[in-house]
Amino acid sequence: MKQIVLAMCLAGVCIGAFPAFGRTNSRSGDTVAHDWWKHAVFYEIYPRSFADSNGDGIGDLTGITAKLDYLKNLGVDAIWITPCFPSPQVDFGYDVSDYKNIDPLYGTLADFDKLVREAKKRNIRIILDFVVNHTSDQHPWFLDSRSSRTSAHRDWYIWRDGKGPGEPPNNWLSTFGGSAWKFDPATHQYYYHFFYPQQPDLNWRNPAVEKAMFEVTRWWYRRGVSGFRLDAVDTLFEDPRLTDNPILRPGSNAFGDPVEENKYNTKQPEVHEVLRGLRKIANEYNAVLIGETWTADVAELDKYYGEGSNELQLPMDFLFTMVNKLSPAQFRKQIAEVNAASGWPTFVISNHDIARSYDRYGDGAHNDEIAKLMAALYLTLRGTPIMYYGEEIGMETTPPARREDVKDPIGRRGWPKEKGRDGERTPMQWNESENAGFTTGTPWLPVPESYKTHNVAAESKDPSSILEFYKKLLRLRHTNSALLNGKYVAINENDANVLSYLRMNGSGGVVVALNMSSTAQNVALELKAQGFASVKSLLDSGPVTIKKSSVSLPPFGVLIGELTK
Ligand code: GLC
Ligand code: CA
Repeated sequence: MKQIVLAMCLAGVCIGAFPAFGRTNSRSGDTVAHDWWKHAVFYEIYPRSFADSNGDGIGDLTGITAKLDYLKNLGVDAIWITPCFPSPQVDFGYDVSDYKNIDPLYGTLADFDKLVREAKKRNIRIILDFVVNHTSDQHPWFLDSRSSRTSAHRDWYIWRDGKGPGEPPNNWLSTFGGSAWKFDPATHQYYYHFFYPQQPDLNWRNPAVEKAMFEVTRWWYRRGVSGFRLDAVDTLFEDPRLTDNPILRPGSNAFGDPVEENKYNTKQPEVHEVLRGLRKIANEYNAVLIGETWTADVAELDKYYGEGSNELQLPMDFLFTMVNKLSPAQFRKQIAEVNAASGWPTFVISNHDIARSYDRYGDGAHNDEIAKLMAALYLTLRGTPIMYYGEEIGMETTPPARREDVKDPIGRRGWPKEKGRDGERTPMQWNESENAGFTTGTPWLPVPESYKTHNVAAESKDPSSILEFYKKLLRLRHTNSALLNGKYVAINENDANVLSYLRMNGSGGVVVALNMSSTAQNVALELKAQGFASVKSLLDSGPVTIKKSSVSLPPFGVLIGELTK
């Protein structure tokens, strides 16, 4: 449900009249030398919840530094840390009040520098989260902006007169509930906020805003950062005429608002100019730009790569996360479409805004097997995966039971229809000790009961655990050239239960067969057409029998095999 709220609202309701792919397909170019971000495995850390070093119940940078060996051993090449900058924490860091510092909750700039140094020793890169659309209402820019109509920063945000007394400038809604306009009695105008009222939108039409924000990225690059995940890029620009959005359903969403198509306040063409500007700077530092790109279809996603890849290297394919059941047909379709896009695919199955994959796909009886199956899927596809902390141990979504326990304001506002995002942000489960080893204090969110069985220490000792499967899979992914560079070729496309595909590199290749059903399956892999005769297991998740090109897979079983002639 949360996914739907986010997909429909963060992105704007995805109805776009975008032309089909107009650019050449670069799939044939996969054998050329790869940029580092094409081979790297990224790992998202929600810093509040990863590791607490000082017992205040909130994770911090020193906590992350202490876990770098764990991440290295797991097979992670880059970590994306969600916002750790000074913030009133209304949206847990996505309301930034100073782009060039670290929130004391998380540590200091010196702690950050140490994290960069220690990560570098282990060849792990640091990616920061750049909240480009809005600041906190406590940012000095906004404090000045709201102070008077003639203040130096007035035009850094979007201020307008109301339509009439008590009437906002237009019908735009905040994706977090209510009007997207807030009246400010001091200057008798409204300011625009796509998210919470404490997150006023920056006015990117003002060149001074662009200059200041571009400079922020340089500042962090010089500090050793290898790229940014750009937050909510769809929302950067609005129609300057403030045209009302079409109302799709007058009924009510989880917040009691009508359902609007975000036609005039998301995905405006000007965003691409900004992305080109940010990319130019990123190129100077060999850095990567990852996008939070909620799109209606792959044609729309494709636009974020830019012309000749001059915008985002890694726009996330959230359409993949919207295949919400184990459907080979639906995954096949989605994978084929994103492989036909003009840039390199980016896969995620969980993040801090959507329910965890463990229970989104789990059937309640085979959740651990299904977690391995999903890992085998998105970690063997042609593209870059972004893991989410805890996915590798099978952490589950644990929403609060009562409204009064909810921390995420959208959960308090939308309860009970929208329970908020606390469920996917619970503390990392390190071991069996109290609070799962996350903190010696009181954790900011309760630790799910599942920590007793699903934790790093216990799973490290169990060769059949989800964690050990991830480690083997990531080792294979880093060393097998077909998995690194091979093109994606779908096979057995009519199979309703097993998703099978090849990754082919020159004369060699790998086959991946994923049984998405709860019964054992025999598959005759269609290898002949590609010039192969048989298969040898490289990694499987259970008792798999192979006879030449025939494979028997247990329920939700996985086979990753080497192809032989
Ligand atoms: C993005 C973030 C989300 C945040 C929102 C506003 O969607 O992923 O967590 O609430 O932007 O910054
Ligand atoms: Ca702490």
